[in-house]
Amino acid sequence: MQPEVLKGQKTDRSEPQDAMSAQARPSIPQPIKSPEEIKSRFRDLYGQEPSVYRAPGRVNLIGEHTDYNDGFVFPAAIDLFTWVAIAPRDDNRIHVDSENFHEAVEFALDALPQTAKAGWGRYVFGVALVLQQAGHSLRGANLLIRGEVPIGAGVSSSAALEVAAGFALLANSGAAIDGRKLARLCQRAENEIVGAHVGIMDQLASACCVADHALLLDCRSLEFRMLPMPAGIRLVICNTMVKRELAASAYNTRRVECEEGVRILAQRFPEVRALRDATLDQLQSRRAAMPENVFKRCRHVITEDVRVIEAADALEQNRLDDLRRAMAESHRSLRDDYQVSCAELDLLVELANQAAGVHGARMTGAGFGGCTINLVETNAVDAFRDRVSAGYEQRMGIKPDIYVCHAADGAKRAE
Ligand code: GLA
Repeated sequence: MQPEVLKGQKTDRSEPQDAMSAQARPSIPQPIKSPEEIKSRFRDLYGQEPSVYRAPGRVNLIGEHTDYNDGFVFPAAIDLFTWVAIAPRDDNRIHVDSENFHEAVEFALDALPQTAKAGWGRYVFGVALVLQQAGHSLRGANLLIRGEVPIGAGVSSSAALEVAAGFALLANSGAAIDGRKLARLCQRAENEIVGAHVGIMDQLASACCVADHALLLDCRSLEFRMLPMPAGIRLVICNTMVKRELAASAYNTRRVECEEGVRILAQRFPEVRALRDATLDQLQSRRAAMPENVFKRCRHVITEDVRVIEAADALEQNRLDDLRRAMAESHRSLRDDYQVSCAELDLLVELANQAAGVHGARMTGAGFGGCTINLVETNAVDAFRDRVSAGYEQRMGIKPDIYVCHAADGAKRAE
């Protein structure tokens, strides 16, 4: 049995903006001003009074492709959210309506299948499944979901959906769990049900971040520290508007290359269980034993872990020049050693580096398209946006989306 996509459930909300199917091209609505907006639509749809929860997307300041190597990452949640309005049902079924995809899915909690068809519904279904497998007995529910995190842009719309849905389903069942545990379960849903072999960063940031702070995370122990963002700096995210087809397969290839590096390192250094445990000297000493690509992937990860700690120290001590240097070096390493950048990302970084008031610019997320993160002084944001947007459009023929964000709170009830 598969979760059912309910036909004929389209509401009077506007259709997607282009001629493609609703499933293929979601619409991303403008941020709502108050939870009352989604509550009122929920009342119209289900005739019940809902509770509202939300979870944010994230942007990673530095520490790319280190999470699945047991290393360090430094993300912040952003004030673009996935909202979930929810109210109980008595028949042990979960009914989910999506404002983005203009369709609904429904499944029975006592007959959850072990796999799910492609589509947005499997994120919700997958989270329900792993929560139940972990011993949480969920109550039936009606849900209305509104995702305001751009999809496929590398700012973790999927983690926001998983975490918001998990948080809401637990609260609806009278349960609550620690943010780290919720993040782990949402990651498991994405790994096992959705089939994307991602690390822990996105779900943990979406579940645990605190407003006006960035989160320095040890991906092995899941211990983290919240470090305040300097006042007067905005998180400016520039979207290349491209997503290379090979992104998913390249991500998996990079993971395999890192595992191969660990295997070759551990032959001589058995204490190396993950790249997080290795030093550059150890890597150099094994260079001849590994393919050049594997050497370069490992060099990125090992040096990136060092840069994360340097950047976090620099942020904490307000040494913004050092922060900028670490971010620039991270971008170079992702471009040349990890080889996950692209011409569009490189151009956005180059343009950012020519603008005034910028304290760091680099690609962010998995790469092969997606976004750059730029730390920009508040009073320089407008000029930055104009300059980068015009320069990118002139050279690439595409207008970039630019999101000017604050560091936001992780998942919570929105009232
Ligand atoms: C994606 C994954 C994360 C992380 C980044 C790269 O966002 O979901 O787990 O691996 O790529 O740093």
